Formats: sequence, C-alpha cells, structure tokens
Amino acid sequence: MSQGPTPQPGIMEIELYVSGSSTLEGKDNVIKLSSNENPWGPSQKAVEALNRASHDLHRYPSTDHAALRRAIGEVHELDPARIICGVGSDEILILLAQAYAGPGDEVILTEYGFSMYPIIAHGVGATPVTVPERERVVDVDAILAGVTERTRIVFIANPANPTGTMVGKKELTRLASALPPEVVLVLDGAYAEFVDGFDGGASLVDRFPNVVMTRTFSKIYGLGGLRIGWGYASAEIIDVLNRLRNPFNLSTVQLAAAEAAMRDQDHVRRCRDDNTKLRNWLAHTLAEHGVPSDTSSTNFVLARFADADEADACDAHLKSEGVIVRRVAGYGLPHCLRITVGDEASCRRVAYLIGLFKGALADG
Ligand SMILES: Cc1ncc(COP(=O)(O)O)c(C=O)c1O
Repeated sequence: MSQGPTPQPGIMEIELYVSGSSTLEGKDNVIKLSSNENPWGPSQKAVEALNRASHDLHRYPSTDHAALRRAIGEVHELDPARIICGVGSDEILILLAQAYAGPGDEVILTEYGFSMYPIIAHGVGATPVTVPERERVVDVDAILAGVTERTRIVFIANPANPTGTMVGKKELTRLASALPPEVVLVLDGAYAEFVDGFDGGASLVDRFPNVVMTRTFSKIYGLGGLRIGWGYASAEIIDVLNRLRNPFNLSTVQLAAAEAAMRDQDHVRRCRDDNTKLRNWLAHTLAEHGVPSDTSSTNFVLARFADADEADACDAHLKSEGVIVRRVAGYGLPHCLRITVGDEASCRRVAYLIGLFKGALADG
C-alpha cells in the first residue's frame, strides 16, 4: 500500500484555530461579542481610499509598501526602514518563526497565551513550551526559568488575549535584559492602541536588537476583514523577514485602506475613548452582578464565573437571547467567558442578560 505524502514534523500536532462564531441557528439579529472586533468599524477615510484603489486593480501592488510604512513611521515616530507589513500581524509572527525556529528548537509561550502561538511553533517543527502565568498575568520569572539553550523565540501579547491583563515596562525591560541575545522576544501589540500613551514596546525594540513588536489593523482600526498588520524590529531582523516575505503579500486595496486608516488618528482616539468608557462600565456592572474580571487594558473583559458549569449555563442563556461571547475553555479558562466591548446598546444588553442569569441563580 502506498504511504502517500507525509507532512513535515509538527504539522499534525496543530490543533485547528477556533475563531469566534458569528451566527446562531434560528436567530437573525445576533450580537457578536466573540472576536474583539471594533463595533464602530473602520475610519470612513479608509473605506474611501479602498474604493478609490479599486480603480487600479489591473496593476500589481507595491512590493515595498513604502507609502504605508511612511505613514506608520510618521504617526508612531519610527524609522520606516525598520517596519515590515504583513497579512495581519499573524503573518509577521509566522515569518519570525520561519526565520528563527525549526525542528529541535523551543518557542516559549505563557499559560493563557494567544492560541496562534503554539500553532505557529508547530508549523515550523519547533516545540512550544508553555510556562505558567501568575493570576492570569504574564510572569517574567517563569519565562526566564523556561529558557534553555534550545529556546529561540518568546511570544508575549501585551496587553494579552484572552486575559486582557498587561505587564509593566519595568518587568518587560527586566525580561529583555535577562534573555540571551540570540532569543527573539516578540511583543505582540494587537491591543496596544487601547492603552492611551502606550508605545506597544517600540522603545524596547530600540534598546534591544532581539526585541520585535507586532501590531495590527484588525482591532482598534476596525479592519479585521481586510487582513493587515505590521512589525517593528532591528534593521537586521527586518532584512531577514523581507527575504522570506512574499513580495506581493498585500493587495493594492489593503495598502490604500491601511495607509488612510493610519493617518486618521482622530478615529483611533474616538474608538479608544468610547471603548474605555464602555469597558469600565461593563466590568463594573458585571462585578455588581457577582461576575468579577481582572482590570482589562483591551477591548474585551474576561468575565469569571463560579465554575465551568456556571460559565457554560450563562453562555447557553446568552446564546438563547441571540448574544455570542467567547468560550475560553480551550485556553484553560473553563470558568470564564471573554466578552468583547461592543457599542453601548450591546454592552447594556449583555450586562442585563448576565444580571438576569445571576439573579435567577440567586433566586434558585
Ligand atoms: C494577541 C493577538 N495577536 C495577534 C492577533 C492576530 O491579529 P491579525 O488579525 O493582525 O492577524 C490577534 C487576533 O485576535 C490577537 O488577539
């Protein structure tokens, strides 16, 4: 019997990524709070730029992304030559793994780290090594204790998904200083813009040549459907990644929309302010209903229930009312539900429904 083609080592270890569901059978007007999307959508200027760019679809796109990198550089005060753009920040994370890890190497991630990290590590045949967090916060000492001579990459999201928590600059500096210089420290800043005044780790990239920052247009920019992200690193690392990158990885419309979105920082500020207000209101209201959460620095709240059965029952109750939140049992948090901060009506609705659910439990 023929054996057939054999996939590369690691690939059959991959557990398929589960995305936030967006439909409920038999329900028309669902409220989707399962994928940390921006409820206000992208900047109108980005949509207009995308429409204008659609007149040029017969042309190949730019391969060097110079205009987008210039816009990012101007807004963030970074050297455009040290920026790389990709198909979502996922592509930058994958390029990093392809460039710096392979069979026999280890990639460190943390207990509740983003579920793409082990997928990416297995994808290049490397071994994901999970280290504990402390009360749902990334623990620098646990990471350092997990480093061996095989470690090639450390992935941290800051702020983190699905916990919403953050590590301070002092701790991150301690980590960057203590890591061997040949280990790449990836600071995934997918939610960085939700923290007013936070540079996402850019200053650490400037100080340590082995630190890389990744960012996305999928969250605060409201462009998840378009798939654009970027990274900032030393000139040497950017050169390595560009050798691997598909030259036409981003389309004309992606590039045009992302550039206009980056230049519309008023939209970003409005979204950040509205998100902060609604997130704080939601966390406070849920706590009053007996559902606590850690202080979130993102556009979601990780709601903690008494146990897994209660979280499951609440999820079923929300679904029956047309509200979709994210189960996070796969992250080792079966007693939690991750709830994206929606617009005001959605926040009020989900808080009201959880209040009813907890009230019914109390009345027993
Ligand atoms: C922590 C984290 N990193 C990266 C990503 C990927 O974002 P992108 O859409 O840019 O690939 C996400 C998306 O959910 C995320 O939560």
